[in-house]
Amino acid sequence: MPNQLQLNNYKQQIADLYSRRSLTYDQSDWHLQIAHRLVEYAQLTPGQRVLDIATGTAMVAIKASEVVGAGGEVVGIDISPGMLDQARRKVEELGLTNVKFQLADAEALQFAVNSFDCIFCSSALIWMEDISGALRHWYQFLKPGGLLGFHAFADTSFIGAVVVQKIVEKYGISLLFNKPTSTEGKCHDFLKAAGYDCIEIKSEQYSSYVSLEQAKQMWAGNESLAPGQFPNPLLQLSTEQLKAVKIEFELELSALETAQGIWNDITVFFTFGRKPVN
Ligand SMILES: C[S@@+](CC[C@H](N)C(=O)[O-])C[C@H]1O[C@@H](n2cnc3c(N)ncnc32)[C@H](O)[C@@H]1O
Repeated sequence: MPNQLQLNNYKQQIADLYSRRSLTYDQSDWHLQIAHRLVEYAQLTPGQRVLDIATGTAMVAIKASEVVGAGGEVVGIDISPGMLDQARRKVEELGLTNVKFQLADAEALQFAVNSFDCIFCSSALIWMEDISGALRHWYQFLKPGGLLGFHAFADTSFIGAVVVQKIVEKYGISLLFNKPTSTEGKCHDFLKAAGYDCIEIKSEQYSSYVSLEQAKQMWAGNESLAPGQFPNPLLQLSTEQLKAVKIEFELELSALETAQGIWNDITVFFTFGRKPVN
């Protein structure tokens, strides 16, 4: 069934952002590690049909295709043509014939109901406009007993986000970042409310020290997108206020620097739920 792609401004900007990032996206080691871990936890079996929502450069889709084998199938969907170009290039280079990709909006899919054994959403749930609605939407495409798996990140994760959130609160601005799914309890409640059962959440650490320069580069300012918020709330700040926020951001980071660098927490919740059998 073909998917129609009609993007609003928020989603068009996400698509453009990730198309710009697509050539360098695979340079991050931890992304690949957590994508593979998500697939490992799902314990896929040969012959299964898998949907990889917001597939990006296909980190999850490729790993899943190796497990489901020639008798199975993986479908990867994303709104970013640039990310899908990279995904298709990788799959072609690897000679995989059981993976296909579609340009499609995760919140407006048109697959047959009860048609996938497993659905993944790796490192992308916070980009959805309506997280509850998306989880309910995906539920219908799972076969009874089928598994949904996604990543969420603790609110202590990503030092740049933690520091900027604290500073802009003083200006009356609330940046969401990972907040909607930033605890095991919140992830559990989202899945329960959308109808999933057998909910299991495994928390793992991918934290490390980063240099002061790397931490400073986490500053996205008002030119980038804020996940789940459009327009970016930082646009409410004047040029002077934004300059002041950036100076404070860099000072706060400098104060956190140790001989090893700056601790960048990445606490990942590998979150799973099943569609009940009846
Ligand atoms: C951080 S990347 C994650 C990519 C991949 N899943 C991974 O684990 O490496 C977020 C991805 O979500 C995609 N995305 C965001 N909103 C989307 C939507 N509504 N529908 C489909 N893809 C979306 C972006 O285009 C981007 O490729």
